[in-house]
Amino acid sequence: QSTTDVDLSKIEAGQGIVTSFRKQPLFVRNLTPAEIAAADKVDVKTLRDPETLAQRTRGQKNWLITLGVCTHLGCIPQGITSGEDRGQFGGYFCPCHGSQYDTAARIRKGPAPKNLFVPEYKFTSPTTVTVG
Ligand code: FES
Repeated sequence: QSTTDVDLSKIEAGQGIVTSFRKQPLFVRNLTPAEIAAADKVDVKTLRDPETLAQRTRGQKNWLITLGVCTHLGCIPQGITSGEDRGQFGGYFCPCHGSQYDTAARIRKGPAPKNLFVPEYKFTSPTTVTVG
């Protein structure tokens, strides 16, 4: 079981990077205050896979760390880089069958059954997160 260290120092608010974790794409995104507010405004009871942003980010609300693997059939969603289509909920959009994820990477529309998976991780310095 290997771990992956991610350097957060160059990821500006509103940006994200794709790296890899155990051979799968890993999305690390620095949410803007507006994206955090949008996620917090949602009534969790209305969600298909009910989780708050705070639960999904372990309290560090701006760092959204998920696998970049759609929970429908495993395509890589778009939206981690700012030029890509983030879909109608501002998070991620899966081009394979149209699943739409919000700014907490929660499934909001389309066939995917679950939110993007949040792996185990911990902050090992102010600018480093160790995933796994
Ligand atoms: Fe993403 Fe089907 S694999 S919507």
